[in-house]
Amino acid sequence: MNEIIEINCIANLTYEIIFCNGEICENSKPGQFLILQKDEFSERVPLTIVNCEDGKVRVIIKVVGRSSLEISEMKVGDSFKNVVGPLGNHSEIRKYGNIVCIGGGVGAAPLLPVTRELKKTGNKIISILGAADANSLILDDEFEKISEKLYITTNDGSKGKKGFVTDILKELLKEKKVDIIWAIGPMIMMREVTKLSVENAVPCWVSLNPIMVDGTGMCGACRVHIKNEIKFACVDGPEFSGADVNWDELISRLSQYRDQEKSATEYKCRCDSNAK
Ligand SMILES: Cc1cc2nc3c(=O)[nH]c(=O)nc-3n(C[C@H](O)[C@H](O)[C@H](O)COP(=O)(O)OP(=O)(O)OC[C@H]3O[C@@H](n4cnc5c(N)ncnc54)[C@H](O)[C@@H]3O)c2cc1C
Ligand code: FES
Repeated sequence: MNEIIEINCIANLTYEIIFCNGEICENSKPGQFLILQKDEFSERVPLTIVNCEDGKVRVIIKVVGRSSLEISEMKVGDSFKNVVGPLGNHSEIRKYGNIVCIGGGVGAAPLLPVTRELKKTGNKIISILGAADANSLILDDEFEKISEKLYITTNDGSKGKKGFVTDILKELLKEKKVDIIWAIGPMIMMREVTKLSVENAVPCWVSLNPIMVDGTGMCGACRVHIKNEIKFACVDGPEFSGADVNWDELISRLSQYRDQEKSATEYKCRCDSNAK
């Protein structure tokens, strides 16, 4: 159980891990996540389920600190000590019409299963993937297969259009009837996409990733203000209407452990920055 059968570096600091767990596969739906623990001394790390088929679970992890680095250093044949899930609510999948799906950085990973299911339900998908540079872009080949059109933006212009996902979204909202937007990525990206969605009166789903500890609504670590009410992203989300989120509070809370996170990361990542 939880044995890793594949681990691949798919982009700069980004790993795809496939491990065995039949129970999770039987019960998971797009939008849900897991909490994994490498060993009994490790932190609990929330990760979205990207695929679940034939008892094999696929997750994608970006190395951003100590725990994600430790997971990226696991080998085929190693097993996670604990895997809890599926956690959280599944996405609101139904026929909406024209959908713009936006993935920023590793946010493309949680977005993929949702986009796949929205496509299966008969929606027309336009996807926008944004990344810092060509080496950090992930899953563009898989998005291409399920999208009527895929736009790519990179901050440095090394692939696709130079700029941000919001540059493309602005143009699309002028040109096309968009029925709903799905955006998953860095908080600032989701906040900016939400602003555009509100200005254009288009609903927008976002997936929130505040710090989570237990993932079951007990510890309160993941509390967020939604329409001025306190909600727990792990049990009430992780997806919410972007217009209802108190973004400024959420963004400032994300940096509250920055000093501790910095001191925990004392060794260098082995991932080759030119892996892709
Ligand atoms: C519901 C959910 C789904 C997620 N899905 C993915 C995914 O599919 N792929 C992926 O690469 N990342 C995902 N994340 C983020 C991932 O959990 C964090 O990047 C990881 O926990 C960082 O741990 P660290 O020790 O390496 O980094 P640290 O150095 O501890 O922290 C770096 C940053 O990571 C975030 N973080 C740290 N600990 C946690 C925690 N316990 N919970 C949430 N965020 C944390 C904080 O923003 C922090 O500033 C998800 C988070 C949530 C809440
Ligand atoms: S992670 Fe503890 S309440 Fe959500």
